[in-house]
Amino acid sequence: RLQQKRRLVQERIREFPDFPTPGVLFRDITPILKDPVAFAAAIDLLEAHVKASHPQVEYIAGLDSRGFLFGPALAQRLGVGFVLIRKKGKLPGPTVSVAYSLEYGQAELEVQNDAVSPGQNVLLIDDLLATGGTMQAACELMKKLGANILECVVLIELKSLKGQEAIKPNSLYSLLQYD
Ligand code: PRP
Ligand code: ADE
Repeated sequence: RLQQKRRLVQERIREFPDFPTPGVLFRDITPILKDPVAFAAAIDLLEAHVKASHPQVEYIAGLDSRGFLFGPALAQRLGVGFVLIRKKGKLPGPTVSVAYSLEYGQAELEVQNDAVSPGQNVLLIDDLLATGGTMQAACELMKKLGANILECVVLIELKSLKGQEAIKPNSLYSLLQYD
């Protein structure tokens, strides 16, 4: 059953060589969203994992922008709130920010100071972990707010880029792994 759902999701991921820069094999998740059965399967799998492993979760924190596609649907299933970790300059009011580099560039992430309170149990979500630079920066932001990070969750892990090492000591859960 779970394997069948995993297969449904996997069938809706396509690859584009040399995007957005030469040498990068881009894994495109847009077909998952276009297919309601595959999209539901992805959320089902994430929901089952979180309910089994992190029943104490209080907030889902999604990473700009593809974490915003899966995070809110998951948060609704779990009956918890969703908070936004955004690219710099998008959020009003007091914020904290962290600069980072990713597989094909650099950027800065930001979160509102009141997104979560110290000690709250937060789960971070994104579509994909490559070098882990983005997720590591998001973890730093959450730590600046005093959050308790339960886990980092992604649909796709690109194993050869060793993102799991980069985000240590935070732990990773991925639905699908590629070399
Ligand atoms: C992509 C992806 C992850 C990040 C992973 O986002 O959605 O957030 O890169 O790369 P890393 O593990 O090497 O840091 P991108 O910055 O392209 O922005 P987008 O979600 O707005 O497309
Ligand atoms: N973000 C960073 N690396 C990526 C890749 N290879 N495919 C899709 N998104 C990415």
